[in-house]
Amino acid sequence: MCGIIGYIGKHIAKDILLEGLRRMEYRGYDSTGIATWEESRFSLIRSAGPLDALEEKVSREKLFGTAGIGHTRWATHGGVTERNAHPHRSSDGKIILVHNGVVENFAAIREFLCARGYTSSSETDSEVLANLIAYHYAKESHRVQCSRFLESVRRALFHVRGTYGLVVLCADFPTEMVGARSSSPLILGIGKDEYFLASDVAGFVSRTRDVIFLNDNELVHVHGDDFSIISLNREQIKAVRQAVDWDLSTVELNGYKHFMLKEIFDQPNALNNAMRGRFSADGSTAHFGGLQMSPRELRKIDRVIFCGCGTAWCACLEAEYLIERFARIPVEVEYASEFRYRNAPMDRNSLVLVVSQSGETLDTLAAMREAQRKGFRVLAITNGIGSSIAREADGGIYQHAGPEIGVASTKAFTSQLCLAAMLALYLGRLRDLSFEDGVAIAEALRQLPQQVLEVLKLNDHIRRIASRYQHCHDMLFLGRQSMFPIALEGALKLKEVSYIHAEGYASAEMKHGPIALITEECPAFFLACDGITLEKTFSNMHEIRARGAPIIAVVTDDCQIPAALVDDIIAIPRAHPSVQPILAAIPVQLFAYHMGTLRGHNVDKPRNLAKSVTVE
Ligand code: AGP
Ligand code: GLU
Repeated sequence: MCGIIGYIGKHIAKDILLEGLRRMEYRGYDSTGIATWEESRFSLIRSAGPLDALEEKVSREKLFGTAGIGHTRWATHGGVTERNAHPHRSSDGKIILVHNGVVENFAAIREFLCARGYTSSSETDSEVLANLIAYHYAKESHRVQCSRFLESVRRALFHVRGTYGLVVLCADFPTEMVGARSSSPLILGIGKDEYFLASDVAGFVSRTRDVIFLNDNELVHVHGDDFSIISLNREQIKAVRQAVDWDLSTVELNGYKHFMLKEIFDQPNALNNAMRGRFSADGSTAHFGGLQMSPRELRKIDRVIFCGCGTAWCACLEAEYLIERFARIPVEVEYASEFRYRNAPMDRNSLVLVVSQSGETLDTLAAMREAQRKGFRVLAITNGIGSSIAREADGGIYQHAGPEIGVASTKAFTSQLCLAAMLALYLGRLRDLSFEDGVAIAEALRQLPQQVLEVLKLNDHIRRIASRYQHCHDMLFLGRQSMFPIALEGALKLKEVSYIHAEGYASAEMKHGPIALITEECPAFFLACDGITLEKTFSNMHEIRARGAPIIAVVTDDCQIPAALVDDIIAIPRAHPSVQPILAAIPVQLFAYHMGTLRGHNVDKPRNLAKSVTVE
């Protein structure tokens, strides 16, 4: 995905664009660029690499324009070069734009335009959009001035297959801006004498919180002091203005070195927010305002299919353990990207639940649409307020974890686990979970933020452990039962931010293959907090020990683990099984963080990654 921004107002655009790009850099940082309207022409400045390089270039120019667009790229088509950086300009110089998404039929469009004299100067799919709009703009010359620009964008988009969030400027209408979206987010910010378009509210939240979330197939036209929204079919849209209640401090570092660390430490707060107002008065169950399904309907559900990607998928897997154990409903977990094309036969009483931090992951969105197309009800657990998934789901649960800026998901993950436990509690109490067992889970959840604070106190201890392993090349993460998803997440986190090769396995599976990897050079990180299988986990440790590999183990503080079995112990508070995985997740996050930083990486912007992937 990329971050796009557009500004029209009375202030100098370049500063506003750069600030917006800085806040949206998590969306991509392969290259960056801005274009501003300077008296009679567009000034275009682009740079490969992260934003610092662009800022340096911009500081050497005198830019006073009050309209402009900007982009921070996560490349899909064409290498990471300055030439491929956005904004892209049409070869006749009339149109300039920034694009988030993929134009699937770009080759055919390029060929069509090439035959009509439009040339390309980059390898990107996005550049054809600028030329295609310019082509329609030239054809629309008979039109009354005010609709010509908008109409050329609208007509061009009819020929586009793929996804887009777009902000477009036109040299003939320098005080106007057109935006459009299809499967990539775009938000209009309405300020005092100024307008913004951005992929994320973060792009302009320091200047206004008055927003409109555009829907798919809508275009917005900002002209002079006003704006209008139309559909691709030219119907007028009556948009809903909303106030976002963002606290600016949530998108700033506030003294932390990295967003990842800030967000790890924000977990007690994020968990409180996930639970706030969601327990019943008798303390024996949870309730959710937005499920849009009655208890009677929920009682009929005889299978739940969870879909997500990456860390959200790991949360789905944990939800499987929790819901099967406490609500006794069969659960299946699918990668969203696989579910979409698998065409699995499903029963009418199946419920699909998608999990996505951003609410914009295209694989997850596509899986959701596919399930809905077949008539299934889809609920979503998401942190993305007003996101595509939130809006298209039939109901759902907001995480309220606050913005997660670090590319590696941390607080959103534990918040998803917390909501999975609450959902298991709620669904369980609609079936055969007793009052007493319900109270025990609710009570365990209430104590959780305090226990998380205890685990966070282990930060220095975990950093010291990481410093002993920072030079390793491979690592195994192992856990059984509810600790297995945490092992998978631990391996994913380590890969993402330290670039160390890591695999997560169910501990017992290790002896069926991965044990061949075990050498003194391949440490094993055990999540050994699952009560039921603890002794068997100890046996798995012996198997590794016998082959000389170092062992790090996360255990509960009441665990009698033989000292000779492990090299490093991380002892966390013992908790109810419904929440123990949440506590176990925090040491793996801190371990990955320290491994990444000790190895000198920018953990907030891991190589090749972007915060949410809005392409398939
Ligand atoms: C998490 O650390 C990753 N950056 C990634 O796996 C992420 O969880 C995945 O892309 C799904 O994102 P979503 O939750 O926003 O849908
Ligand atoms: N396809 C465009 C490019 O490669 C935009 C990528 C995106 O939005 O992820 O430049």
